[in-house]
Amino acid sequence: MSAAQEAVPGRTASEVLGWSRALLDPALRAAVRGLPPETRRVAEYHFGWRDEQGRPAEGSGGKAIRPALTLLAARAVGGDPADALPAAVAVELAHNFSLLHDDVMDGDLTRRHQATAWSVFGVNAAILAGDALIALAYETLADGPVSREGLRALSRAVVDLVEGQSIDMAFERRTDVSLAECEAMAAGKTGALLGGACALGASCGGGDAAQVARLRAFGELLGLAFQVVDDLLGIWGDPAVTGKPVHSDLVNRKKSLPVVAALTSGTAAGAALAELYRGEGPLTGSGPARAAELIGLAGGRDWGEARAAELLDAALTELDAATPDPVAAADLHTLATLVTARDH
Ligand code: IPE
Ligand code: IPE
Ligand code: MG
Ligand code: MG
Repeated sequence: MSAAQEAVPGRTASEVLGWSRALLDPALRAAVRGLPPETRRVAEYHFGWRDEQGRPAEGSGGKAIRPALTLLAARAVGGDPADALPAAVAVELAHNFSLLHDDVMDGDLTRRHQATAWSVFGVNAAILAGDALIALAYETLADGPVSREGLRALSRAVVDLVEGQSIDMAFERRTDVSLAECEAMAAGKTGALLGGACALGASCGGGDAAQVARLRAFGELLGLAFQVVDDLLGIWGDPAVTGKPVHSDLVNRKKSLPVVAALTSGTAAGAALAELYRGEGPLTGSGPARAAELIGLAGGRDWGEARAAELLDAALTELDAATPDPVAAADLHTLATLVTARDH
């Protein structure tokens, strides 16, 4: 077993995230305060910092896993996490741009235990707030000590995320999606930004090209595992814990990873799921619950759990190959394990 794969004693996941959050929050809030009033109002609501009326609030604001990866990747290559702070803020802004738009595309009504921004302020306002956040992400990054390579790491990740989202939408109308295609889509929509977060941190921390590449690969594999788990939680998670609706993917006939694993399983339950998924418009009534049952029977849940564990292992091998600072490696190991064990 490699050094990174061993369970290294150190900080717990909540200590690591707390440390990262304490560094990130003031800079993230200051960046968003720099937006003009209309987009700022929607963005601050989305982050949980203000309620619908603009009064201060204490919403969850999300797990902030990506910026923690950026700060730790900088430390992993021997750099100072503070040098990667603008990059960490930029990554979290880019992530929230994608969430604002994603909830419009998926028609979802809740995120982070509150009504989605589009359902409160309207679709146009949510789209525009997302646009403002992605522009702010590049501005924040450019104002920090970033190389041309670092700027490209973020823009490439965002382009790949957008492509992944496009393919995700296109899959809703297709009936012949293979598991390899579905993983490629998830690698784009989620793997790219986690990979970019790590590459950016490593680059800001002064890592060499090989270290940047290894840490990017670590983040990409972890991101794919992250999406597998997200898809499982979208079917079998508890909305009171996830803060997001359950069965929304099934209502939308989404070809999420466990769904495609079930559809391509060659089982009778897989065939019954294909039959249920045929047709247009939202799946209604008992349809989504029946779909969840069939996905389980066809082995979609087992596949997802096994695949997430396999991807975690592959990610940790890449982490180890980056010859990271051992303390940062322990924290990254802890965060990576949280990604696959999480319930929200
Ligand atoms: C949700 O990401 C979108 C996906 C890529 C699955 P997170 O689960 O990291 O969202 P927050 O920021 O913690 O709410
Ligand atoms: C995740 O989309 C990827 C992005 C938001 C770019 P999903 O639609 O799978 O994520 P959730 O479950 O709504 O957070
Ligand atoms: Mg969604
Ligand atoms: Mg989506």
